[in-house]
Amino acid sequence: MEQALAWSGLDGKQSLQGQVVLELGSAPGGASYSLLQHGAQVYGVDTGVMDPDVLGFHDAKTGARFHHLRMAVGTLAPHHLPPEVDIIVSDMNLAPGVVIPYLENLCRRHRPALLILTMKMTEERLESKVGEILGSLRRFVPTPLKATQLPANRREVCVVAGGLGAV
Ligand SMILES: C[S@@+](CC[C@H](N)C(=O)[O-])C[C@H]1O[C@@H](n2cnc3c(N)ncnc32)[C@H](O)[C@@H]1O
Repeated sequence: MEQALAWSGLDGKQSLQGQVVLELGSAPGGASYSLLQHGAQVYGVDTGVMDPDVLGFHDAKTGARFHHLRMAVGTLAPHHLPPEVDIIVSDMNLAPGVVIPYLENLCRRHRPALLILTMKMTEERLESKVGEILGSLRRFVPTPLKATQLPANRREVCVVAGGLGAV
């Protein structure tokens, strides 16, 4: 997450402060911890166990806290979520063909300004399909969309779409 923020110019002071983030696939919590330290409110969706430092995080200055939605993304309903979601993060270890429909539903409902995603190359054949995967995302994500493989990425591509007005 730190590398994705730096690559996107989002690591500047206060750019994430007060932003409401929905992270899909949040356990054990490295990315959430980074976002919390930048002052974001994080709603993390994962059936897995979150690190206690993430669950107990509270910054009195920024008000940043973590809210665990301990469920699979497919069972997420509107009443689980805050009225406004500024940023959607996805790091679920599922194939892009499974992740993209979830993202599309959530984007159409919440209209986030920014998405930060890892698209997992769960099978070797997907590596030649990155263009198609980005094309599917372009149908519904905010612009601009950019993609790269960051040093910390393994068999995955980092995608950042949209932006925060003040950055
Ligand atoms: C690479 S790990 C996430 C790492 C996490 N972002 C971090 O920084 O610590 C992938 C996560 O996706 C979660 N996941 C897989 N399928 C999911 C689903 N259908 N709904 C929610 N989370 C899911 C797994 O439980 C796993 O914790």
